[in-house]
Amino acid sequence: MIAVCPGSYDPVTFGHLDIIARAQRLFGEVIVAVGRNSTKNYLFAFDERIKLLREATGSLPGVSVLPISGLLVDFCREQGAQVVVKGLRFAADFDYELQMAHLNAELGGLETVMIPAGKQWGTLSSSMIREVAHCGGDVSGFVPQLVAARIADKVSSGKGFDNG
Ligand code: PNS
Repeated sequence: MIAVCPGSYDPVTFGHLDIIARAQRLFGEVIVAVGRNSTKNYLFAFDERIKLLREATGSLPGVSVLPISGLLVDFCREQGAQVVVKGLRFAADFDYELQMAHLNAELGGLETVMIPAGKQWGTLSSSMIREVAHCGGDVSGFVPQLVAARIADKVSSGKGFDNG
C-alpha cells in the first residue's frame, strides 16, 4: 500500500524521519509530499525543503519525495495512494489533524492514519528549531547533520525567512 506523509518540513527533523520510517514499515511505500501552507512564512524555500528531504531520506528504501501544489486528495489520487499518515505529538495536533482528516475524507474519500510521535521526539517542532537557529543555538541534536549545516549557512548569511 502507498502512504503519503504530507507537510511543510521547514526543516525536516528527526521526529519527521521517525514517522516516515515507521509509516514505510507499516505500509511498504511512502511518498513524502512537500507543500506550501499559505498561512506560513518559511525559513527554507520550497525547492530547498524538497532537496533536504531527498538527502535526509536517501537511505530509506520505499521512500520518495515529491512536491504537492494542489489539494492533498488530488495528489493522493494521482499517485495511487490510499492513506495519509500523520504523526501526533500532543492534543493540539489531534484537534487540527481530526479536522483535516474529516475534510480529506469528505473531499476525496481519503483515509488518515495517525501514529504517536516517538517518545524521543515527542515534542519536537520545526518552528522551535527555527527559533533556536535564529537565536544562534545548536540544532544538531534535532535534525540531520546536512540540515544543521544548511541552517548554519542560512543564519550566518543573514538571509532569514522565505515565502516560497
Ligand atoms: O502541516 P503543514 O506543514 O502545514 O502541511 C503543509 C501542507 C501543504 C502539506 C498542507 O497544508 C496540505 O496538505 N496542503 C494541501 C492542501 C489541502 O489539501 N488542504 C486540506 C484541505 S483545505
